[in-house]
Amino acid sequence: MRNIVLIGFMGTGKTTIGRLLANRLGRPFIDSDKKIEYENGMSIREIFNTYGETYFRQQERSMIARLSHYNSTVIAAGGGVVLSAENMVRLKRNGVIIALTASTETILERTGRRNTRPLLDDFEKREQIVNKLLKERMELYQKADCHIDTSNSSPQQVINEIMFFLRQGGYLRGRS
Ligand code: S3P
Repeated sequence: MRNIVLIGFMGTGKTTIGRLLANRLGRPFIDSDKKIEYENGMSIREIFNTYGETYFRQQERSMIARLSHYNSTVIAAGGGVVLSAENMVRLKRNGVIIALTASTETILERTGRRNTRPLLDDFEKREQIVNKLLKERMELYQKADCHIDTSNSSPQQVINEIMFFLRQGGYLRGRS
């Protein structure tokens, strides 16, 4: 069975939804960033601060290369996974790609709760940065197989929408 891959900007709910979706489907869940953190013995913030973003992107690429060989797994990717065309080719080969979206306001609210995103460190300019990155990446997120806005929906509603899409597309055939 193909993997179900969640992509989308920071704060769109990939980790929360991914975990719940995996639970609902009885499939394993893997969060790419969490696995990178575990294997490096450092948080994403520490990786950025110590080695820089280029190193992190290399780590992300090699993690995605490995995860793309998994089967029947729900994978939550980091928000910047779309920046590498190679990542997306790999993930698509064996997975259905679902993009979660949210309004800038929602993203700012959700990402403001915890200080774990090094790209959003400049507090004064957070809104500007989010808008800039969203603009740069919009086209890349649009390449997903399905798009779901999580701004005004409960996690349960989002899961139901994903399940509907997966069933309609025949992605769950033989299971669940
Ligand atoms: C990033 C998103 C983060 C994390 C890193 C960079 C990005 O993941 O990979 O801070 O470039 O959008 P989340 O989307 O899970 O926050």
